[in-house]
Amino acid sequence: MNYTLHPLKEIHPSLLPRIAEIHMGDAGLLSKLGYPFVLRYFEIAVKDKHAFGFYAQENETGKIMGFSLASPEPSALTSQLTTDRKWFIKQVLKVLFTRPLVFLQMIISSITIQGQMEDEAIECVYFTVDPKFRGQRLGRTLQKALMDEGRKQGYKKIFASIETWNKASLAATQANGFTIVKTFREGIYHRHRLESRL
Ligand SMILES: CC(C)(COP(=O)(O)OP(=O)(O)OC[C@H]1O[C@@H](n2cnc3c(N)ncnc32)[C@H](O)[C@@H]1OP(=O)(O)O)[C@@H](O)C(=O)NCCC(=O)NCCS
Repeated sequence: MNYTLHPLKEIHPSLLPRIAEIHMGDAGLLSKLGYPFVLRYFEIAVKDKHAFGFYAQENETGKIMGFSLASPEPSALTSQLTTDRKWFIKQVLKVLFTRPLVFLQMIISSITIQGQMEDEAIECVYFTVDPKFRGQRLGRTLQKALMDEGRKQGYKKIFASIETWNKASLAATQANGFTIVKTFREGIYHRHRLESRL
């Protein structure tokens, strides 16, 4: 597998739908909110001052294979979804009427994640690999790139929350040196909280 990692900040805007498409393979809340939310989220993330990440591009085909994203303040990314009020209200109403439990989960999650961050720490917000390229250590490499960049930027710790059933994510994260510090419930999600020194 021949690929190059590029900073997510340098991605051409025309490639963001591909990032959003890959992200739809994640079982988390953002993808449950639907594609418009996912695309808007990544449009915000690549412009955010503090967030950073990487995408892997296959050298031969130029195809995007996966990506990773970290932030010292993950809730600041989600709160920017509300900046365009008209768009946000329209999308939220759609979720409320078509998937009310997802709407409820959104409220529970926003309350649960409050106070989870520490000073000089970053969160591994997402790392996702296209199913075609999984199992070849790409996920691990994309997450490791966040750790190396975080260290370079002076951060001291990295956190991640991973659903307890997600064996591949847990294996990759633990192989990168994270340890489980607690297990908690967040609405329908049962998650491990993991951390590593940088
Ligand atoms: C999590 C994810 C990014 C891992 O990507 P990947 O490129 O397959 O990961 P890697 O190959 O680097 O590492 C996966 C590790 O999990 C192991 N693994 C894979 N599937 C597994 C399974 N079902 N059970 C147990 N271990 C598993 C692999 O053996 C590997 O461990 P190793 O490096 O010690 O051999 C990918 O599965 C994915 O995109 N999942 C959907 C999105 C997601 O859940 N993201 C994480 C959110 S917290």
